[in-house]
Amino acid sequence: MTVLEWSSQLSVGFDEIDNDHQKLVGILNSLSDAVETRQDVAAIGTVLDELLSYTSWHFRHEERLMQTYGDPELFNHKQEHEDLLEQAAALKTRFEAGDAAVPAEMLPFLKDWLTHHILETDMKTGQFLAANVA
Ligand SMILES: [Fe+2]
Ligand SMILES: [Fe+2]
Repeated sequence: MTVLEWSSQLSVGFDEIDNDHQKLVGILNSLSDAVETRQDVAAIGTVLDELLSYTSWHFRHEERLMQTYGDPELFNHKQEHEDLLEQAAALKTRFEAGDAAVPAEMLPFLKDWLTHHILETDMKTGQFLAANVA
């Protein structure tokens, strides 16, 4: 099942970031598929790892862009990223300890977090970059 559908409403107006977000949404939906089709723990763990490592890469990518173009919101934006990575790491630890409820619990949490973060925080960054990147 699709947890989150990409639409132009989620566009932050800066292609480099929109492309990352589309890929992120795709991996989130793959995690949802793996959970719904009752894949085994190893298979779900593989998608979970892919999601977490891509999320981490994407956060650093946004932060590099903000740093390069002098976005004054860098510190606050980075703090939101760090908070999510901490919460996701805690969920991953629980998953690895055998808590099978984690992936299903994680899906609505990530969907809500990602939607709010994109629409509020990333949107401001996208507008800043669109206005400041030559
Ligand atoms: Fe983002
Ligand atoms: Fe962000």
